[in-house]
Amino acid sequence: MEYEEPKFFHVMQYAAGAEGDVIDMVSGNPDWEPPAALREALREYADLPPDAFQYPPSEGLLELREAIAERRNVDPDRVVVTNGTGEANYLAMARAFERDAGDEALLMDPVYPYYPGKVDMLGGESTLVPTARDGGLDVDAIREAASEDTALVVLNTPNNPTGAVYDLDALREAVAVAESVDALVMVDEVYDHFDLTGGFESALTLESDRLIATSGFSKSMAITGLRVGYGVFPEEHVGDAKTRHMLVNVTGARPSQYAVHHALAETPSDYYAEARDLLADRVDAFTDALDAAGAEYTRPEGAFYVLARFDDFPGTMANVKRLVDEAGVAGMPGDAFGTARDEWIRFALVTPRTAEAAERLADYFGD
Ligand SMILES: Cc1ncc(COP(=O)(O)O)c(C=O)c1O
Repeated sequence: MEYEEPKFFHVMQYAAGAEGDVIDMVSGNPDWEPPAALREALREYADLPPDAFQYPPSEGLLELREAIAERRNVDPDRVVVTNGTGEANYLAMARAFERDAGDEALLMDPVYPYYPGKVDMLGGESTLVPTARDGGLDVDAIREAASEDTALVVLNTPNNPTGAVYDLDALREAVAVAESVDALVMVDEVYDHFDLTGGFESALTLESDRLIATSGFSKSMAITGLRVGYGVFPEEHVGDAKTRHMLVNVTGARPSQYAVHHALAETPSDYYAEARDLLADRVDAFTDALDAAGAEYTRPEGAFYVLARFDDFPGTMANVKRLVDEAGVAGMPGDAFGTARDEWIRFALVTPRTAEAAERLADYFGD
């Protein structure tokens, strides 16, 4: 299997090498502070005795698994702490395929690019399923695509890149479709704290024994570098997930898990609310400018991103580079996210310069 450089690395490198000042709206790295309790716990960690520098239990520190389980209202035995949501997604997908229940994964289009990459790596076949114009689930399309060969249905809410927050009834129907063809459902909820509608409900509330929920703290605590995520697996599948996690990684990083555990216990809900408010203000500023630029877009209901379509300016890599050079704004080409939005460009609102970027786009595309 050949290493393929992710497109976002390529755009970021291009933007870094550009002549003028460029506002980076490429990847989803939060620009705000992690919780104070997390910094404090990391400081404290440096002075702990030597056993704190040794392997933690492979499935994660018990106190962290218990805290996650309490928040998710599940048995701690079902929780595996992973190296980010990315690893939890890998474990879920691998489990779906190793059951000999088919080779196909249904992925919603537009799609977070690491999903088809992982399916491919695991020897599966991806089928892209259309979604509604606003990114919401099209259950009929899922039903039509599902077959005996479907081993896995992959969902992500709040969604990257569309910003859609899935309706729980639609999710329930999607799970029923999966059940009817003996497929597992993976629901990636890494943006669960960034629901701007107030209506997000975790898929775990569906209590399906086919459903694997994945999430992590990269986004909610603004710590993409610490690599702490988790999967909540049905009882029947959790043992296999733990084994794979152990054989691939031995375990995860103890200081990161320790710090996240402290931050979970000691961070007031205001911390999360402030980050959400910041994001909501940025959505307002950015979409106002998109109106001024005459762009088409869907106002995100959650996550960090806005997809926009500008007339006569399809979201190709060449046009994204043109935007870097001529407008000083770097986004992601829509064709990196499957086939549904190759006319579009995705902008990540995780820069303090969001309003300035918006003005630049309005000036560049406006009349
Ligand atoms: C949908 C989705 N899932 C997973 C990840 C990776 O999360 P983590 O840093 O927890 O591995 C991202 C990161 O951007 C994402 O957008």
